[in-house]
Amino acid sequence: MTKITAAITAVGKYVPDYILTNKELETLVDTNDEWITSRTGIKERRILKEEGLGTSYLAIKAAQELIQKSNIDPTEIDMVILGTATPDLFVASTAAYVASEIGAVNAFGYDLQAACSSFLYGMSTAAAYIESGRYKKVLLIGADKMSSIIDYKDRATCIIFGDGAGAALFEPNTEGLGLQDEFLRSDGVGRDFLRIEAGGSLMPTTQKTLDDKKHFVYQEGKTVFKYAVSNMAEVAAKMLTRNNLEERDIQWLAAHQANKRIIEATAKRVGVSSEKVMMNIQNYGNTTSATLPLLLADYENQLKKGDNIIFAAFGGGFTWGAAYVKWAYNS
Ligand code: UT7
Repeated sequence: MTKITAAITAVGKYVPDYILTNKELETLVDTNDEWITSRTGIKERRILKEEGLGTSYLAIKAAQELIQKSNIDPTEIDMVILGTATPDLFVASTAAYVASEIGAVNAFGYDLQAACSSFLYGMSTAAAYIESGRYKKVLLIGADKMSSIIDYKDRATCIIFGDGAGAALFEPNTEGLGLQDEFLRSDGVGRDFLRIEAGGSLMPTTQKTLDDKKHFVYQEGKTVFKYAVSNMAEVAAKMLTRNNLEERDIQWLAAHQANKRIIEATAKRVGVSSEKVMMNIQNYGNTTSATLPLLLADYENQLKKGDNIIFAAFGGGFTWGAAYVKWAYNS
């Protein structure tokens, strides 16, 4: 029997129109373009400004772009997984709403939360459903409206994050293309260093939590940086050694866009040169669950069938991992 692998067969993206530049951030907090650029690589991010629109709006737009571009019938989608740390609502699944709005009326959907690793973990989930033969079309979306949980008076976080969404369709492949290998990790030691303290079951919302600004993202940047650099680089390198790949066998590195210095450190460890490193952090900042699919959408025209791509991500929790994918189509 022919082995079924799970291939990405289409991608789509959406970022809001409003551009928050380093210059504008200089008017909000004590920072400057030079510091932000040299420490993070970020020049601007996109912000969803319109009231009444949540993460679902971003996700729906990205999914609709994918559907239009690839000409698929949304009623054929079996499953919608939404990687997000900023669901529209607590309790009500945002993915369920997204699936209905895009016309995926025969699908079921749920949210997957692993902070900045949500899309990477989602790739594993989507691929497992395809490889098992259980479903034929799994739509994986990574979307976050980070501006909804950022304090624009906190220079440690407001310079980093942005809003955006990307989507990827997973389908069965019999040519051996798609997901080849993965190594996913987590370590609860991370939860003190990158988190929103209140509003969950551990510390429900009170007037005091609101007054103390405990509903915004808190990050101890230096510590997260250290863990991110060493762990992301290690798992990415593991994809090569475990699959007997040399640097020359790798066409692309798609690493979570949290900090240009972390991405470059990962590239160095894997041994790939800068032209093989997908990079768009300068345009969007850290969009959490959306960074990996936004990279795929932005680089789609340059990707060729059979290209070997190493994915890597690191996020709150801590959560992290890497994956090795053989690209499945020429666009
Ligand atoms: O996506 C999930 C995973 N997240 C990450 O991977 C993020 C990991 N962390 C980082 O990317 C970096 O730690 C940051 C970009 C958040 C911070 O960069 P850093 O090089 O670690 O800076 P730092 O926090 O060590 O601060 C260095 C200096 C400090 O001043 P002193 O104490 O040296 O005088 C800060 O007060 O820079 C100062 N600083 C700033 N200056 C201007 C901190 N934030 C800013 C700012 N503008 N926005």
